[in-house]
Parts: sequence; C-alpha cells; structure tokens
Amino acid sequence: MNITFIGLGIMGRGMAGNLLTKYQPITVFNRSPEPADDLATSGAIKAGSVREAVSNADLVITMVSTPQVVETLMLGPEGGLKGMKTGALWVDCSTVDPGFSRRCYQESDQLGIRFLDAPVTGTKPHAEAGQLSFFVGGTTEWVAEVEPVLRVMGQNVLHMGPVTSGSAYKMLLNVMLAQSMVVFSETVLLGEKLGFSRNFLLDNLPKAPVIAPFTKFKAEMMKAPEQETHFPLELMLKDVHLANQMAYEKHQPLFLAKITEALYAKANQDGWSRSDFSAIFNWLAGAQAGN
Ligand SMILES: NC(=O)c1ccc[n+]([C@@H]2O[C@H](COP(=O)([O-])OP(=O)(O)OC[C@H]3O[C@@H](n4cnc5c(N)ncnc54)[C@H](OP(=O)(O)O)[C@@H]3O)[C@@H](O)[C@H]2O)c1
Repeated sequence: MNITFIGLGIMGRGMAGNLLTKYQPITVFNRSPEPADDLATSGAIKAGSVREAVSNADLVITMVSTPQVVETLMLGPEGGLKGMKTGALWVDCSTVDPGFSRRCYQESDQLGIRFLDAPVTGTKPHAEAGQLSFFVGGTTEWVAEVEPVLRVMGQNVLHMGPVTSGSAYKMLLNVMLAQSMVVFSETVLLGEKLGFSRNFLLDNLPKAPVIAPFTKFKAEMMKAPEQETHFPLELMLKDVHLANQMAYEKHQPLFLAKITEALYAKANQDGWSRSDFSAIFNWLAGAQAGN
C-alpha cells in the first residue's frame, strides 16, 4: 500500500515517524520543509507539493491544524483530492467539525475517493510513542481496511459510526478538556489566595476524585519553569469555537463553553497562541506571554 502523510506538525511528525517503522515507502508533505527533510533521513519520500504527494497514494492521511487548512490543501480546484487515484482512501485525522467532515466526504465521493474522519486523542508524547486513540467515522469495510495502519500510531481504534461521527465525538471531548483546564487553573489560583503553596496544590488537587484525570499530567508540566508545547492554545481555541458553532446549529445552549471560548480567545490575542493550552493558567494568573 502506498501511504502519503500530509501535515508534520507536533502530532503529524510523531505519527508519520511511527508509520515509517512499519511501512515503506511513505510519502510526506509539509508546508515548511524541515520536518519532511528530517523524515527523509529515515527513508520517507519528500514531496514538493500536495498534488505530487497524493498522485500515487492508495491511502492519504492528513493531520493539519484547522478545517480551513484542510480545505486549502485538499479541497477546491487546486486541492489534493482532485489529484488522487479513483478508489483511494483519504483519512483526515485533523480535529474539525462534523459539518466540515461531511463536506470532505461529499467532495471525495463525487470523485470516487473514499473518506473517513479519524481524529485522535493523546498529545505529543502519545503521538511519538504510538499511543494515540482514533475515533473513526465511516463505512465499516473501509475502517477495517485502514485499521492496521492506524494501529501503528495508536492501539485504540474506535469505530464511532457513520462518517462525521469521529469528528462529532472529538468535539465533545475537547470542549470538556478546554473547560476542565480553566476550572483547574482558577481553583489553583484560589487555593494560593487561601494560603496553600502552588506546588502543594499541583501535587494534591489532581489526586482528588472530582478532577479530570488528564490534569495530573498538566500539573506536572505547570511545575516546570519552561513549558514545552504539546497542544497549542490556538488549536484549543479553535476546538471550543467549533463546538460552540455546532451547538448553535443544533440549538443547544452552552453557557460555560461560550465563556471558555472568550477566555482562550483573549489569551490567544495576548500572545499565548503557540504556548501549550495549559498556559491558560499563566494568563489567568496575569503573567505576560513569553515569561
Ligand atoms: N497537539 C495535540 O496535542 C493534538 C492532540 C489531538 C489532536 N490535535 C489536532 O491535530 C491537528 C494537528 O495538531 P498539531 O498539534 O500537530 O498542530 P501544529 O503543530 O500546529 O501543526 C499544524 C500542521 O498544519 C500545517 N499548517 C498550518 N497552517 C497551514 C497552512 N496555512 N497551509 C498549509 N499547512 C498548514 C502545519 O504546517 P507547518 O509545519 O508548515 O506550520 C503543520 O503541519 C489539529 O487539528 C489539532 O487540533 C492536536
């Protein structure tokens, strides 16, 4: 099977790196050339354009930041989709809204291309260690066909239902994630005002049954003087925004998610866009971006 991987950012680089250990050749494309150059030293074929990357592929995997970027790269008259072989499979692992995944499916279908939405949970270390979870929406036989490939990047491959159900489920997870991080951050700040040390709170609050399990991992990151970015804050803002947009379309009020979106939007505007989303704590604490 000829596999093409498009989008070698924080997540895509680790994912494509794992694929390379099992499948060769793999063709890779990224807007900025450095990550593709790196993977080429491990045997990947570096393509100069999306069209070149997809032309011979049986399977194309995309892992880019936003629906707009997927659109730019894959849809429209100049997009990669029009350069794919009839019958090939496109699996979009980017976090996008289900309405956009439906559009990808429809445009693919018109060209005889098969499409699955397959967003992931897990962050940079999980992508590097091949420990992601995939939430896949689409036709059962197509999911079965791609499952061995996805399993190289993560042991958990869950078929959620028809096309768009992977994207829909991922929205639910991330809207909770965004809010949980704000809840934890505000609680730590209140705890400090009540006389507890930050380290005590970061060590002990994550052990409480009331807290989201991922917070333990973030609390460890928050103790370090310099925080590596695992999940950029600007992408968390995108996810809460998409969830709120979806809620509007479905006539479901989301009071807290609306406030949460505004908080991430302001932190993003104040310069924290490429910090890890846990930097919402620093922003709420009144710190300056870059400190
Ligand atoms: N990071 C996480 O923990 C995590 C976890 C689960 C899901 N996700 C989702 O996975 C996707 C990728 O996340 P990531 O963390 O890998 O993001 P990232 O590090 O910001 O990488 C984004 C990728 O999109 C490409 N890109 C951005 N703007 C582009 C444009 N205008 N034209 C062409 N390519 C463009 C980037 O290319 P360049 O390298 O040239 O900038 C890069 O390959 C997102 O949808 C995110 O929400 C992320």
